[in-house]
Amino acid sequence: METEAPPAMKKVFLETLGCQSNVLESDHVVGMLRRDGFLPTLDESEADVILFNTCSIRSHAEDKVFSRLGRLSDWKRQREGRVIGVLGCMATSYKERILERAPQVDLVVGPDQYPKVPHALREAAGTGVSQVLADFDPAYFPENDPAHLSQPHRAFLEIMKGCDKFCTFCVVPFTRGREVSRPAEDILTEARALAKAGVVEVMLLGQNVNSYGLGLKSRGKTPTFPWLLRELGTVEGIRRIRFMTSHPLDLSDELVEVMAEVPAVCESFHLPVQCGSDAILKRMGRKYDVRHYLERVEKLRSRVRDLFLTTDLIVGFPGETEEDFAGTLRLLEQVRYDAVYSFKYSPRLGTPAARMLGQVLEEVKDERLARLNGLAWRHAAGASEARVGKVEEVLVEGPADRTPDAFFGKTRQNRTVVFGGRNFSAGEFVQVKVESSKVANLYGTALATEKAKTI
Ligand code: 5AD
Ligand code: SF4
Repeated sequence: METEAPPAMKKVFLETLGCQSNVLESDHVVGMLRRDGFLPTLDESEADVILFNTCSIRSHAEDKVFSRLGRLSDWKRQREGRVIGVLGCMATSYKERILERAPQVDLVVGPDQYPKVPHALREAAGTGVSQVLADFDPAYFPENDPAHLSQPHRAFLEIMKGCDKFCTFCVVPFTRGREVSRPAEDILTEARALAKAGVVEVMLLGQNVNSYGLGLKSRGKTPTFPWLLRELGTVEGIRRIRFMTSHPLDLSDELVEVMAEVPAVCESFHLPVQCGSDAILKRMGRKYDVRHYLERVEKLRSRVRDLFLTTDLIVGFPGETEEDFAGTLRLLEQVRYDAVYSFKYSPRLGTPAARMLGQVLEEVKDERLARLNGLAWRHAAGASEARVGKVEEVLVEGPADRTPDAFFGKTRQNRTVVFGGRNFSAGEFVQVKVESSKVANLYGTALATEKAKTI
């Protein structure tokens, strides 16, 4: 039953900093708040409650939030009943320490405790006592509500969470806990409900989706990620399946075969390599070498036509020499990714790498990042250009921001295409002839259309 929130704390502004999981989870929090009588707002100036859903993976997001919290002290004092909350990985990594640094914060809630947010907000407004709710709950997975989807045609599905890999630079095993897979029946039931509600594309999320199934049983068998993809591939109405993230060590031949065989599984793969030097990979605890990685890429490309391959790279890991970095550039030249997400190494408290000797100077990291991005940018632009002249199946998202009378959408590879022709609605599938490209984007004209809902 819906209850009315006290008038003084009706409007909630939630800012999300972080990955797809955070975006999905923010959506769930907003949904729960709405069902509980709160009014989510995009206008911070009219908010009674300000929440930050913050990523901990690099220091940047945390620094930003601490500085925003500092500026909100005055805001909070100006009116009785105003509430400030910190959600996300930052909540599990700092817990009470957030309150020590920012006593104006009322609520600290980790990802497994989100169902408690509405109640805790009321309590905070009423009592003024700060609360920290940051325990792990392996059984909790956010679920989409088919009646209140934030996008009508696409949904994110968390299929597993946590990570047991313990790469030496990464906080995720500490902020998200041990690896847990969601029961396959729950995922399939949700996917079917989403498809019925008009969803045509699902993005499967997890820190390491390839190891999905560990510790689970489904119809007496241990489900695997390739098995799950095959099952999802039979859900009527779901025409596109994407997933992220994968660890190169767990990329099995079976997964490659599923990608090649199941029509709904899109030709798009995010395979973080992190670095192109064996010595650094070893110190990162990645448990593969460049040869293994390249062999996996080769296997994927030999079986999946038109594969859109992306990666994550870290520059300036402790001890990284010019020679190590040259190895990364070499790997880039060999693989020629369609897109690269590159990061400067950011020391994270409690991780082994933060205590390693040979921390790299910030200006060296900056300089390496610029060189790496220059090369990655050229590869991305070249890969987009190679699509010119082709006809792409595009799933329409809506009107294009900067081009009048144009629309935009995504190809199966997940490239953005801006195109014209007539009026389109979100969720429609359109065949677009690609006429030009600019870095990652394609431009073209729609040829023929089919209504997504009639498929
Ligand atoms: N510093 C910089 N980048 C990091 N990542 C994870 N931890 C760190 C860190 N301490 C990057 C990795 C990972 C991506 C999600 O974030 O590249 O794949
Ligand atoms: Fe972090 Fe490594 Fe796990 Fe990815 S695989 S979440 S980088 S510990």
